[in-house]
Amino acid sequence: MADQRLTVITGAARGIGETTARRFVKGDDKVVIGDVLDDVGPETVATIEAAGGSAAYYTLDVTDETSVNGFIDQVEQDHGPIDVFINNAGIMQDGLTIEEFPMADHDRVWNVDYRGVYLCCRAVVPRMKARKQGVIGNVASLFGIRPYAVTAYSPAKTAVIALTQILAAECGPYNVRVNSVSPGYVHTPQMQDRFDQGIRKMDTMVKDAALGCMTEMQDVAEAFWFLCSDRAKAITGTNLPVDCGVLVATPYNAYPK
Ligand code: NAI
Repeated sequence: MADQRLTVITGAARGIGETTARRFVKGDDKVVIGDVLDDVGPETVATIEAAGGSAAYYTLDVTDETSVNGFIDQVEQDHGPIDVFINNAGIMQDGLTIEEFPMADHDRVWNVDYRGVYLCCRAVVPRMKARKQGVIGNVASLFGIRPYAVTAYSPAKTAVIALTQILAAECGPYNVRVNSVSPGYVHTPQMQDRFDQGIRKMDTMVKDAALGCMTEMQDVAEAFWFLCSDRAKAITGTNLPVDCGVLVATPYNAYPK
């Protein structure tokens, strides 16, 4: 790899992606952010650069094949080969029943949360394979490991975990690693808004976690930092839960007494 790695993170204008971008910049990577949030993304990059980091922002709609392919072309033209690619862009859904949840919303969730990851991998994998070098990180979810009451989001994230494993097997012989991280309940600004509006309850999320706390954005960023580093050179095809122990505590606490 070149002295300074080039890391691309989708949906990193804000939230978990932004925190991950800052973590990779702190580790001395050059970070490219691709997002649809054109009013926020350049601001994020400006604050990274003001602190001495190296970053760039590009408009990217992960659901649009032309946008994805154009983005990857442009980034490599401007900055050179992509060393690390993190598929973070994603949207949530409300907990509605199958008949309540409109098909247009279902399709939108799948388009961003699964098809977006697929399109980005489809564009970047051949380049990494040809160079025999690269690391891909996908943001899945606790809800992708267990089916929760979100009829499009949960299956889409399960599909991301499956794609991660398939691509890890396909790309391993080319020295390209592919892993996913499954965050639990993350205390993001958007989640805080939901608490403030009374849509979600922090108490329930904390009670569901073995460690009795919510996952912080930094926890997810650190997991990606490790998985994308050479210290994880033997790790591919894994899905790492970063959930403060929600996965283990929920069935444990449900034991009928
Ligand atoms: P967020 O809404 O703060 O950030 C998502 C980013 O993705 C935004 O900057 C948004 O503009 C961007 N984005 C949305 N659609 C896009 C598109 N079509 N093309 C390019 N960018 C697009 O959300 P948050 O919470 O930071 O989520 C990041 C990832 O983490 C998502 O994949 C989400 O599913 C996942 N996740 C979040 C959890 C949480 O508790 N917040 C838990 C588990 C997973």
